Amino acid sequence: MTNSLDDRYSSSKQILASRGQSHVLRWWEELSLPHREQLIHEVETIPWEMIGPILESSDLVSPSSDVLDGLAPPPVYPHMPAPEAEQEYEEAKSLGCELLRTGRVALFMVAGGQGTRLGYDGPKGEVIVTPVGERSLFAFFAECVLAARVRYQAAIPWYIMTSPGNHERTVEYFESNAFFGLPKQDVSFFSQAMLPAFDGQGRLLLGAKHGLALSPDGHGGSLKALVAGGALADMRKRGVEVISYIQVDNPLVKPFDPLFIGLHKKTGAEMSAKVLPKVDDLERVGNLCTRDGRVVLIEYSDFPESLAHERNVDGSRKFDHGNPAIHAFSVEFIERVVERSFQLPLRRAKKIVPFVNDEGQLVAPAQPNAVKLEMFVFDVLPLADRVLLLEIQRADEFSPVKNASGVDSLESAQRDLVRRAYRWLEDAGVSVPYDHSGEPGATVVISPTLALESADLAAIRDRLPSIKQGDSIYLQ
Ligand code: UD1
Repeated sequence: MTNSLDDRYSSSKQILASRGQSHVLRWWEELSLPHREQLIHEVETIPWEMIGPILESSDLVSPSSDVLDGLAPPPVYPHMPAPEAEQEYEEAKSLGCELLRTGRVALFMVAGGQGTRLGYDGPKGEVIVTPVGERSLFAFFAECVLAARVRYQAAIPWYIMTSPGNHERTVEYFESNAFFGLPKQDVSFFSQAMLPAFDGQGRLLLGAKHGLALSPDGHGGSLKALVAGGALADMRKRGVEVISYIQVDNPLVKPFDPLFIGLHKKTGAEMSAKVLPKVDDLERVGNLCTRDGRVVLIEYSDFPESLAHERNVDGSRKFDHGNPAIHAFSVEFIERVVERSFQLPLRRAKKIVPFVNDEGQLVAPAQPNAVKLEMFVFDVLPLADRVLLLEIQRADEFSPVKNASGVDSLESAQRDLVRRAYRWLEDAGVSVPYDHSGEPGATVVISPTLALESADLAAIRDRLPSIKQGDSIYLQ
């Protein structure tokens, strides 16, 4: 039997009072029934065991410094193998292909972020990312999946993590685009959980009189959400062993990299990460390191500048292992972590969060006024007994869409898609025009359905059109 709303209200009131959060129900008398139900539901789902200790601590925004002791650069598989490792790379590639062919690989994309920096009011995956051909991020990734399904003759499932704020719209977007030609049963969506924001005194903030100020619990929430949303069970049913993990924001990513997947499996890794040499010491990417024999990732905001500037004897950067946020997980590892109820650390960040003040007005502050909590997926790295790290080349695999302009923006991602197309065409022996500044003189993007990597173009060279100055071509 379900409790009446009155009962639920009484017990919520009690719990809130015991935690010094009675203000959450202060507008109760003026709320409509649906709003009351919403508010009570939100209160009932507050994960007190997770956030209680933080609300009660005086340390509301706290990067701890002790974890920064003893960091060292991690061992990494280089992008190109040394001669003696060539055979190992070849074997790994074959194994990766075999895993893909036999349906033992799934694609998992995290797309629950709010895209605040980009300023796009909707799921980031809808943003048109190709400068020609009008492909959104989702459409472009869908072409990768389509191409991989053809290449490996396997039903590669694609799981997309959304958040409550963009879930419906994401699903609608796929539906209205007929799933971009993919079978509907092989694309699934599930939402991550939300966490409440609070003020500098540890008081929960209201985003409306009838609701808490909630935000997605970070991509670290994906571990639990994979289980709670049924995705992991579905993977098990399908015989999936390796999860290829990518973010929605990087159109250059290679979601089905046989070398990476094969090395992950061959080395018995539980979690793997690609590694990006940094453009400069302070690039805003996480830093993969080791500490006490475990791989850890220290986010750019926590990484001490003194370490960022350290040099090896040959003058090269000592900590040069950026995080492009491309991972592989073994299904068993995620099951183990979730079964053991491992709690990822809750990261705290001061953010601007609109809130309802004591007078009942919605205030949009100009300065950070709130503490938001998030979990990061890479915080699970130290739990993995084996971690494989593989170096990548930025120009081929990383150009994220994060900001409205400048570095890591739509503009830079579009430029990098064209530059990559140029390199692949030239590798295949096709001549391409440049402008007077040495930049591509035509706008060319290669659809993943035509080529997933440079070598694919060589085989179809005769079918490729000639490219002239000023052309705009989506090669597919
Ligand atoms: C992230 C990494 C950083 C890495 C960089 C590479 C973090 C904290 N840092 O930085 O180490 O070098 O990417 O591009 O992630 N997302 C969710 N749910 C959430 C929050 C985010 O699904 O609750 C998804 C976003 O949709 C996006 C991805 O996670 O796909 C990255 O989130 P974002 O906040 O943009 O991370 P960055 O700070 O850019």
